[in-house]
Amino acid sequence: MPDDPATATHGPTAHPPASVTSLWRLRSYLRPHVWSLTVMLVASMAGVGVSIMIPLRIKALIDGPIAHHDHGGVLPLGLSVLGLGILEAVLIWWRRWTQSNAVLSVETSMRRDLYDRLQELPMSFHSQWQSGQLLSRATTDLSAIRRFSGFGMLFLLVNITQVTVTTIVLLNMYWPLGLVVAATAAPIVWLSMRFEKAYVVVSRRVQDQQGDLATLAEEGAVGIRVIKSFGRSGHVARQYDDAARRLWETSITKVKLSAKFWTFLEMIPNFAVVVVLLLGAIGVGRGQLTPGELVAFITLMLSLVWPVASLGVILAMAQEAMTAAARVLEIFDMAPDIVSGTTVSPTARGHLRFEHVDFTFPGSGAQVLRDVNLDVAPGETVALVGATGSGKTALTSLVPRLYDVSGGRVTIDGVDVRDYSLKELRSLVATAFEEPTLFSMSARENLTLGRADATDEEVEEALDVAQAGFVHDLPWGLDTRIGEQGMSLSGGQRQRLALARAVLAQPKVLVLDDTLSALDIHTEKLVEEALRRVLAATTGLVVAHRASTVLLADKVALLEHGTITHVGQHRELLATVPAYRELLAADADADDELDEVSA
Ligand SMILES: Nc1ncnc2c1ncn2[C@@H]1O[C@H](COP(=O)(O)OP(=O)(O)O)[C@@H](O)[C@H]1O
Ligand SMILES: [Mg+2]
Repeated sequence: MPDDPATATHGPTAHPPASVTSLWRLRSYLRPHVWSLTVMLVASMAGVGVSIMIPLRIKALIDGPIAHHDHGGVLPLGLSVLGLGILEAVLIWWRRWTQSNAVLSVETSMRRDLYDRLQELPMSFHSQWQSGQLLSRATTDLSAIRRFSGFGMLFLLVNITQVTVTTIVLLNMYWPLGLVVAATAAPIVWLSMRFEKAYVVVSRRVQDQQGDLATLAEEGAVGIRVIKSFGRSGHVARQYDDAARRLWETSITKVKLSAKFWTFLEMIPNFAVVVVLLLGAIGVGRGQLTPGELVAFITLMLSLVWPVASLGVILAMAQEAMTAAARVLEIFDMAPDIVSGTTVSPTARGHLRFEHVDFTFPGSGAQVLRDVNLDVAPGETVALVGATGSGKTALTSLVPRLYDVSGGRVTIDGVDVRDYSLKELRSLVATAFEEPTLFSMSARENLTLGRADATDEEVEEALDVAQAGFVHDLPWGLDTRIGEQGMSLSGGQRQRLALARAVLAQPKVLVLDDTLSALDIHTEKLVEEALRRVLAATTGLVVAHRASTVLLADKVALLEHGTITHVGQHRELLATVPAYRELLAADADADDELDEVSA
């Protein structure tokens, strides 16, 4: 929906323009590593110096002791060449060692900030961005930035220095040959640039296709039940095959391209060597050049091939890093519409109020809640009853600020929820939703998400309330790792874990949205009995479909078309509100109640 205004302003741009500014804005991540970067630069520059000195020493060796058959002079010069060689190796090792230490931590800190940022961003953001997009920004893009800041940038400086200094040395040694060498640089740079341009296009296509394949694989795994039950395995497998073949073809193109490039890259300097040897031999014959100089010349010239050729690669790397920086900054720059307040309330009582609350989902035109007023006194429990689509889930998600109200306010103890610090709010309010999210960690970690300091007894108690004792029967008990979507658990088991998690958090306000929907009647009864104890101590807002759940509450609020039309006792509403009676009519308990009431 490209015309959707929300998508147009907030949605992701696949490939925003690369700019130096975006990269520059991320410089603060390098600040803690200025020392390492300096060490790397010094080590690399010293390495360049040594690599230029070695051929010059060899020249001295050939033109001096060897030309004059002075055997005594060979050893000291030879040893100095060997020493320089060892020094060069040490410098390379030093640079690499510093590099790997510093650079990885740059990526780690960027990744942490990005993750924190994603946590702050509102639900509306997450529903507009595909998780694949976020994933690739968090991985590929950050790696691209890391590669450039730790490797590319350094070698850009080092290679330019090496090329400049070596060319000056060559021109100085024998300028006609120096010119020949300088001239060969032109086709190499040209070829590298062209190669990089084509290569970037193909690499990006490979990346996109890898993403497609990953998405298909993920959908295949997550949706396996649906696929199987509709007998679509064959169809899905074909889709996967096609995507895999496309990826294979593109990868082959990529390999062919680089094979061609490297062949040419090898050939150009070899031609140059032939030319230099011919002209050099003439120079030596005329006495304009010594044999030692010719050897040094060729060695130096060959040492230029890599720095010149890699310029193309490095420039492409810079381009990639700049694009990546722009993409990552798109997330950092997103205004978090859920801005944390600062209020901390040490004496929370849990008085929850909805005051003239209006709500429209961000980016959608239709108003979901209109002028909702509801007062839940501290310790009181209100059951929220309403038809499907009446806005129950929307209403409950306003309390922990998964969304913010469009009008009016939600308060806890008289303070607007938007004024609480998010941390405080999340500790005041615990929620359990119909489709609970469990994370890829152990059952215990999932449970203690809201309270890392919970004792074993408290965990047991929460499991007891939620009738989630089944975790003890998992292969490794509480330490069993639960899949990303709690795949290995049934819907009811997941709901019970989520409920235990909410209870364990010991919130002042407990919000349950259809948390018991996937439970069988028997388990539901057990959960309800235990929940009654918990709800006695906290303020509760419980979405209910069955009379038995409603009976947990002190009063009932009926939500019709986004607004609360009736608040009262269950019996009262049952007797006087036909809409309420209808909603609970399918329920056997309600029928009993009804009989009782009418009797
Ligand atoms: N993310 C969303 N964006 C836009 N509209 C939504 C979204 N989620 C739900 N809705 C709409 O809001 C209305 C209320 O939904 P919801 O609160 O989930 O109802 P309930 O929980 O009572 O079944 C429905 O009409 C639904 O289609
Ligand atoms: Mg709902």
